[in-house]
Amino acid sequence: MRVLGIESSCDETGVALVDASGSGVPRLLSHALFSQIAMHQAYGGVVPELASRDHIRRVLPLTQQVMAEAGSSLAQVDVVAYTRGPGLAGALLVGAGVACSLAAALGKPAMGVHHLEGHLLSPFLSADPPEFPFVALLVSGGHTQLMRVDRVGSYELLGETIDDAAGEAFDKSAKLMGLPYPGGPHLSKLAEGGDGAAFKLPRPLLHSGDLDFSFAGLKTAVLTQAKKLGPDLESRKADLAAATQAAIVEVLVKKSLAAMTQTGLKRLVVAGGVGANALLRSQLNAVCKQRGIRVHYPELHLCTDNGAMIALAAGMRLQAGLETLQRGYTFDVKPRWNLAELQAEPA
Ligand code: KG4
Ligand code: ZN
Repeated sequence: MRVLGIESSCDETGVALVDASGSGVPRLLSHALFSQIAMHQAYGGVVPELASRDHIRRVLPLTQQVMAEAGSSLAQVDVVAYTRGPGLAGALLVGAGVACSLAAALGKPAMGVHHLEGHLLSPFLSADPPEFPFVALLVSGGHTQLMRVDRVGSYELLGETIDDAAGEAFDKSAKLMGLPYPGGPHLSKLAEGGDGAAFKLPRPLLHSGDLDFSFAGLKTAVLTQAKKLGPDLESRKADLAAATQAAIVEVLVKKSLAAMTQTGLKRLVVAGGVGANALLRSQLNAVCKQRGIRVHYPELHLCTDNGAMIALAAGMRLQAGLETLQRGYTFDVKPRWNLAELQAEPA
């Protein structure tokens, strides 16, 4: 069974084809991605209307590229999957509209996928795939959550951010330091040359006793520190970046370990854009090794948004018998959508 996946929830257009025959992990046949980052950089963040228009321009050429690289024809596609939410409404509508039109033209079913389910299953496409059950640390630009995952479709929320997401904390702090959008990778690069202990920044909710996060106060502390530095900010930027990164990473690592203790599980999956962060990976690897916990990550190029994770999640849900495929092509998108709602909702 071949599943075509289309991702268009934010500023990346991603298309991929997986083979989900049998019961093994679906196999990625090909994928293609166009990132709009350069276009949004001039505005310091994503401009939703520009994002939607660019998805329209990219999605069909990328689909043609994926089919050509996989040596497959559209007639061989069995299901067309798309990101139904959460994300930017207009951007989601482009992917949903194209996927449903394509499915209708091919006489095949279409299927909406939860973007975060895509992220958290994405490590199954890595060279070291996880096994169920596991704790998932989902750290993206819009979400920071710890979930207990017992099988495909079974997602129990253990804790989440009460304000900004970890990616947002990276991005907003980076913006204060005059770094380009999206700030996470830039801040992390700058931090390589800095001293993380140079400034004392808060670790919000570190000792709250629950698994929730809060990052809004950190951004304010970075702003206060930047103002205090005044003209010296330029020469101390690397230190401030390193201190910011150290604060975010320490909270993520400690809360992940608390989730492992609370659940008694021995596998941790890290997914979402911030999962690409090198300090987060090295610190998690070190502490988890000490505690006999296996950590799994997506391949670096599949940490941020992509079509492969959408095709994969669709394939895994189909294999698990969680979807009843229909050839009806009305659709809606869900810009706000809790992952935990997935179980309760009929397909
Ligand atoms: O998962 P993703 O591509 O999009 C969402 O679904 O939100 O995540 C994007 C986020 C951005 O906030 C970006 O700054 C962050 O992931 N990010 C990083 C790194 N690479 C991407 N943050 C820290 N270090 C990185 N290396
Ligand atoms: Zn994402």
